[in-house]
Amino acid sequence: MGFSEGDVKKGANLFKTRCAQCHTLKEGEGNKIGPNLHGLFGRQTGQVEGFAYTDANKAKGITWDQETLFTYLENPKKYIPGTKMAFGGLKKEKDRNDLITFLREETK
Ligand code: HEC
Repeated sequence: MGFSEGDVKKGANLFKTRCAQCHTLKEGEGNKIGPNLHGLFGRQTGQVEGFAYTDANKAKGITWDQETLFTYLENPKKYIPGTKMAFGGLKKEKDRNDLITFLREETK
């Protein structure tokens, strides 16, 4: 099963509570514990300048889109073994759909 359209408002709330302590979304907002996510869709892994990624994240070499994010966010450490992203994952498909729908708009 893959991505399907979700609820932007619920996604915004998930981002605030689960991701925002480590990530910013808008152009020029800078990196926190994790890289800035502006321009994420269509970009290869590990491309944000000035962010010290692990080799594992850089070498994954996939393009971020709704499908790769859907798999990654379920269990980041399974999709990218060796990542330093300390996040257990969003196990509910609905949560991932909502969050990715929000991210697709907010990282443009
Ligand atoms: C505790 C801090 C933390 C939390 C919480 C967190 N992240 Fe991360 N994230 C990171 C770090 C650190 C990396 C870089 C991983 C590496 O280099 O191995 C990362 C990497 C990523 C990447 C890969 C970026 C790239 O350029 O390749 C994506 C996408 C991402 N995070 C999305 C999310 C989303 C969405 C959430 C919320 C569900 C989230 N993260 C929660 C710290 C966090």
